[in-house]
Amino acid sequence: MKIVVIGGTGLIGSKLVSLLRSKGHEVLAASPNSGVDTITGAGLPEALAGAQVVVDVANSPSFEDAAVLKFFETSGRNLLAAEAKAGVKHHVALSIVGTDRVPDSGYLRAKVAQEKLIVGSKVPYSILRSTQFFEFIARIPQASADGKSVRVSNSLFQPVMSDDVVAALADIAVGPPVDGIVEVAGPDRYRMRELVQRVLKASGDVREIITDAHARYFGAELTDQSLVAGPDARIGSKRFEDWLQESTASRSAASPSKTANG
Ligand SMILES: NC(=O)c1ccc[n+]([C@@H]2O[C@H](COP(=O)([O-])OP(=O)(O)OC[C@H]3O[C@@H](n4cnc5c(N)ncnc54)[C@H](OP(=O)(O)O)[C@@H]3O)[C@@H](O)[C@H]2O)c1
Repeated sequence: MKIVVIGGTGLIGSKLVSLLRSKGHEVLAASPNSGVDTITGAGLPEALAGAQVVVDVANSPSFEDAAVLKFFETSGRNLLAAEAKAGVKHHVALSIVGTDRVPDSGYLRAKVAQEKLIVGSKVPYSILRSTQFFEFIARIPQASADGKSVRVSNSLFQPVMSDDVVAALADIAVGPPVDGIVEVAGPDRYRMRELVQRVLKASGDVREIITDAHARYFGAELTDQSLVAGPDARIGSKRFEDWLQESTASRSAASPSKTANG
């Protein structure tokens, strides 16, 4: 089976390409670097020729409200039109748990727009909504920092290891289209402040963390229901504690002197 992974060089895309290849599939890792651009349309017909499945894990280079909306709308439109022309049988896309519950976030509004295009297209589809990747937690303080301190919401969230998301995507890609939405999430729910604090500490970041119920998460205030998965979600196997310990240990092994000096 020929599977095209759009965004095949990214965090999720590169792992997905390796996993699908290890299972014996013909996989094309498509991205602007390899001459396939969903914004300009360059290289799309050639990449999609003979493909049965397309997995879209591309991401916008900018998270600014207007730019991210333009990215997911333009990319989605071009990609789905090219897939319809090429006779692709299954479009798989990675979205975000709760994306329709947080309308004040420009990024999540853009993901809703991406999902709407998929549902409205003629290509059979499966949308996998994931919670936040463990690797992504380090970006939360960047988005809410004023220099010396970090204001974070203390709402519940349920992050997941990227490998668990990749495993779910691989299963979906080789299965039949569900023409609907499925969810994947991590095994535990946490208060956002707790994990942001632990990720900052593990990387030697000494900024003060201030819990603020009105702190904005990518533009939006959160509630305890905003980002947690529903009861039918596929649950990843990796726990946050184990991932943090392993990733800190592998960082120390990669640069022992830096870690020893703080
Ligand atoms: N972060 C989270 O916690 C989270 C949670 C749930 C869902 N998601 C979703 O997961 C998806 C993948 O995220 P990620 O963190 O793996 O992304 P990433 O590491 O930032 O990778 C983005 C990929 O998109 C490609 N790309 C950018 N512009 C493109 C274009 N015009 N045409 C084709 N490809 C293009 C990049 O190619 P180059 O390398 O050539 O630039 C790269 O391969 C996103 O859609 C995101 O919304 C994320």
